[in-house]
Amino acid sequence: MEDYWLCYLIIFWFVLLIVQKVVINLYWRPRRIQNHFLKQGIRGPKYNFLLGNLKEIADLQPSSSQHFSLSHDIVPRAFSFYHHWKNIYMVLITLNFLLIICAAFLVWFGPTVRVSISDPTLIRDIFLVKSDSFEKIETPPSAKKLEGNGLSSLRGEKWAHHRKILTQTFYSENLKLTIPMMGKSMKDMLTKWSSKMSKDGKVEIEVSEWFLSLSEDVITHTVFGSSYEDGKAIFELQAQQLVYATNAFHQVFTPGFRFLPTKKNIISWKLDKDVRNSLMKLIEHRKKFLECDQSEEGPKDLLEVMIKASNSTYSNSAIKVDDIVEECKTMFLAGKYTTSNLLTWTTILLAMNPHWQQLARDEVFNLGMILNESLRLYPPLAATIQRAKIDTKLGTLNLPQGTELLIPFIGIHHDAELWGDDVNEFNPGRFARGVAQEAESPMAFMPFGLGARHCIGQNLPIIQAKLAIAMMWMCFSFELAPTYQHAPTILIFLCPQYGAPIIFKKL
Ligand code: HEM
Repeated sequence: MEDYWLCYLIIFWFVLLIVQKVVINLYWRPRRIQNHFLKQGIRGPKYNFLLGNLKEIADLQPSSSQHFSLSHDIVPRAFSFYHHWKNIYMVLITLNFLLIICAAFLVWFGPTVRVSISDPTLIRDIFLVKSDSFEKIETPPSAKKLEGNGLSSLRGEKWAHHRKILTQTFYSENLKLTIPMMGKSMKDMLTKWSSKMSKDGKVEIEVSEWFLSLSEDVITHTVFGSSYEDGKAIFELQAQQLVYATNAFHQVFTPGFRFLPTKKNIISWKLDKDVRNSLMKLIEHRKKFLECDQSEEGPKDLLEVMIKASNSTYSNSAIKVDDIVEECKTMFLAGKYTTSNLLTWTTILLAMNPHWQQLARDEVFNLGMILNESLRLYPPLAATIQRAKIDTKLGTLNLPQGTELLIPFIGIHHDAELWGDDVNEFNPGRFARGVAQEAESPMAFMPFGLGARHCIGQNLPIIQAKLAIAMMWMCFSFELAPTYQHAPTILIFLCPQYGAPIIFKKL
C-alpha cells in the first residue's frame, strides 16, 4: 500500500514540475518580456499562449489566388507580417541624443520573441561595433538536415577554423580560373535554348528551372573540381533528399514527426545515407589522388582545400571526414538556390525593362550596377536572426541575454526613408557612385549580410551572373511571357511563386 502512495507522490511531483515549467515558459516569461519592452516603448502584437503570433503570421500571408501587379513594392506580399506590424508599431526612440524613427517592434514566433530592427545605425552596432555581444542563432535540427551542419551552422573556434580554410576557394583570383568552365556551361544552355526556337526566331523558356541546373553545375565544379562527375551524382542525390527533407521541415510543428518511420522519412533517411557514403568514397579516392599529384595548377576546389586541411599535423585543428561531408552539403544549398534566384530576378527585371538591356549592351551601364539593383529589390535571403549573448544595450534599448533580433534585409532595401521616393523603381543608375554612396546609410544595402558571418561565397554569384547575363544578351533580346505572374514569395529563399517564363528573341 505504501509503495502505491510513493508512486502516486512521484507522479504528482512529476506532473507538478511539468505544469510549473509550462506556466513559466509559456505564460509567465513571455508576459515578463513583453512588459520589459513595453516599458522601453517597444510594442508588438499580443502574445498568445504557446503559438505566439504564428497564426496571425499565417493569416497575413496573401492567398494563392491573390495576384500582384508588376510593381516592385513587394514587401506587403512577400514579407506581409513585417509590413503589417511595422506600420502599426513603428516607434520613435533616442539614439545618441537624436530622436529617430526606429522600426523596432516585437513578434512572437511561438514563445520566442524576436525584436525586428531595421535602423541602419543599430544594424551597424549589431554586426560591427558590438559584434562580440551578438551571435547567430542555432540552426534547428530540422533545418540542419536541409542545409548540412557546415559553416553556416557552426560556431566558435570550429567556425573560425573552417571559415579560414574555406575562404581560399572563394578568392576572386581563384574563382576567375573557373570562368572558362562557367562559360562552357552557359554556352551549352544557350545552345539548347536556340535549338528550341520557332521559325520566327522566338522561344519561351521557364528560366528559373534552367538557372537552377546552371548554378548546380557551377557549384559542383567549385566544390568538387576534377571529381565533377562523381560530385554531380552526389548532388543529384542531395537534391532528391532536399525534397523529402523540405517536407519534414514543413511538419516542424508536429513534435517528433521527423523521427517517425513514415514512407517519406524512410526514403529521406536512405538518401541521406547514400549521400554520406558516396561522399566518403569520393573523399578517400581524392585523398589517394592528391598524395600522388602535388601540382598547384588550376583553381583550388573546396574538396581539395578541405582534404589538405584534414591532413594537418595538428590533430585538434584537423578537419574530419564528417566535417567535409557536412560542408559539401551546406555549400550545395547555400550556393545553388541563392545564385539561381539572382539570375532569375535579374532576367525578370531586364525583361520588364527592355531599354535597360540596350543600355547595358551599349555599355552605358555596367552589369555590376544592374546586379546590385536586382539584389536590392529582390534579395534572395530576405532576413537573418541574431541573438544577444549577454545583457546588452543597443542604442537606448536594453536587451536581456537571449533576445533574438530579426534583421529584415528585404524591408531595409525597400525603405523609402533610406532610398528616396523611387525606392520601388528599378534604377541601376542609383549605384553609379558605388555601393557605399547610393543610400542614406551604407548599411542600407546588405544582400550578402554583414560582419564576420557575411556570405563567404559572394564573389561566385557575381562572377557567374555577370558572365551569364552578358552571354544571354549578346545572343537574345527578351521580354516577359504573357503567362508570367509576378508573385515574389519566400520559400526559404525569395523566388517567383509561379516560375519565370520569358520569351527570348534571336538578335
Ligand atoms: C546571390 C547569391 C547569394 C546571396 C544573396 C547570399 C547571401 C548570404 C547571406 C545574407 C549570408 C549571411 C546569412 C546570415 O547572416 O544569417 C550568407 C552566408 C553564407 N553564404 Fe551566401 N549568398 C549567396 C551565394 C552563396 C554561394 C554561391 C555560396 C557558396 C558556394 C554561399 C555560401 C554561404 C555560406 C557558407 C554562408 C555562411 C557563412 C558563415 O556563417 O560564416 N553563398 N549568404
